[in-house]
Amino acid sequence: MAWPDFADPNEAACPSQMPPFRDVNGAAADEPVLELEPSPAPPVPDPDKDLPRSTSSAMPDPSSPSVPRLKARVHGRLSPEECAQIDLNALEYRALRPEDYQEVVALHTEWFPVSYDEAFYNKSVRGEIFTLAAVHRHSNGNAASEGGSSGSNSGDPGGDVIATGLGDCDLLGIVTMSTNCEHHADDIMSVLGSDCATTCRTKHPKDGGSMANEGADSGNGGALAYILTLGVVDGFRRRGLAKELLRRSIQHADRHMLEVQAVYLHVVTYNEAAIQLYESMRFVRLDRFNNFYNLHGAPYDSFLYARNLHQGRFPWKFRLRKLLAFSLTEWVMSTWSSMWSNDALERRPSEDSDTMTPP
Ligand SMILES: CC(C)(COP(=O)(O)OP(=O)(O)OC[C@H]1O[C@@H](n2cnc3c(N)ncnc32)[C@H](O)[C@@H]1OP(=O)(O)O)[C@@H](O)C(=O)NCCC(=O)NCCS
Repeated sequence: MAWPDFADPNEAACPSQMPPFRDVNGAAADEPVLELEPSPAPPVPDPDKDLPRSTSSAMPDPSSPSVPRLKARVHGRLSPEECAQIDLNALEYRALRPEDYQEVVALHTEWFPVSYDEAFYNKSVRGEIFTLAAVHRHSNGNAASEGGSSGSNSGDPGGDVIATGLGDCDLLGIVTMSTNCEHHADDIMSVLGSDCATTCRTKHPKDGGSMANEGADSGNGGALAYILTLGVVDGFRRRGLAKELLRRSIQHADRHMLEVQAVYLHVVTYNEAAIQLYESMRFVRLDRFNNFYNLHGAPYDSFLYARNLHQGRFPWKFRLRKLLAFSLTEWVMSTWSSMWSNDALERRPSEDSDTMTPP
C-alpha cells in the first residue's frame, strides 16, 4: 500500500518529538498529575456489517473475523436465487478488460486470503497475462464473447487503467494464467526436471535479454503455464464453471502456446474443493512445499499440481516412482487375484459336489 503524500512516515512514527512540557490536564511536567480515566473511543460504525462473509474454500479459518465480506458488485445485483436461475451454457467468455479492474480486485479479495499487488491487476486487465472471465449478460447487456487474452487484446494501449464500470454484465468466474519465467522459474525443476535456461525459449537476462514482457504469454516463450488465480463467485459454485474455465484455458494453451509442456499451479493443502477440482481434471500431484504460504499470519503448505501438454514429461524421478508404485500395486493385485482364482479352482469341485448333493 502506498504511503499517503501528506504524511512523512518517520515523523508519524516519532511521538518523542511532541512538546513535552504540558500534559493533557494543563499541569506542568513537575506538578502532581490528576489521573483521568481515558474516555472510551466511540465505536467506529462498520458500513459492511450486514454483508455476508465469503465462503471461499481458500480461507484458512472460515469462522475467523479475517474472512472478508462479500463486497463485489455482483452480489448486489444477483441474489443467490437469481444466480441459481442462470444457465451455465448461457455464460459468455472473454478476456478481462480495464473496465473490470475494480470488480476483479473485489472478487480476488473475497476469494483469496492474500493480497495481490497493483501490478498483477494491471497486467490482468491489460492483457499482459492470459485471463478468461465468465460473464453473465443481463437482458440488455453487452458482453463480448471472444476467447482469453494472450497479450494484446485488452484494448488499453498502455495508459493508466481506468475503471469505467461493467455496465450490464457481471463476472461470475475468472482464471488468470502466465507463461512468464518470472512466475515459474522456481518451480520448473519440480514440473519438468530442468530449468528455464535450458527449457524455455524466453530470453534470459544472462543471454542479454530481458525476462519481462518477452512475449511469453503470447505463446512464444515459457515452457510452463502457471495458473495464478482461479475463482467462482459465491452463489454460482458447484455448477461446473471452474471446470469450464480450466477446460478452456488448457485448450487455449494446447492450441496457441505450443512451447508449453505443462499447465501447473499451487494449492494450499486444506483447500479440498480446489484439490478435488484439479484431480477431476487429471492434474497430478507432483510435490509438496512446506510453509509455502503465509495466510492470516500463519504458515501453510502447498501442493504442486500439473498436467502435461504437447510432448511435456514430468521429471524422471517422479515417473520412476510412479512406475515402481504401479508395478508393486500390479504385482500385489495379480498375486492376490491369482490366489483367489487358485483358491476358487481348488474349491470348485467340492462346491460343485455340494450343489449336486441333495440336502
Ligand atoms: C475451487 C472453486 C474454484 C471451484 O469452483 P466451482 O465452479 O464450484 O467448481 P465446479 O463446479 O467446476 O466443480 C468441479 C469439480 O470440482 C470438485 N469440487 C468443486 N467444489 C467442491 C467442493 N466444495 N467440495 C468437494 N469437491 C468440489 C468436484 O469434483 C466438482 O465436480 P462435481 O460437482 O461433479 O462433484 C471454488 O470453490 C472457489 O472459487 N473457491 C475459492 C477460490 C479458490 O479456492 N480457488 C482455487 C485456488 S487454487
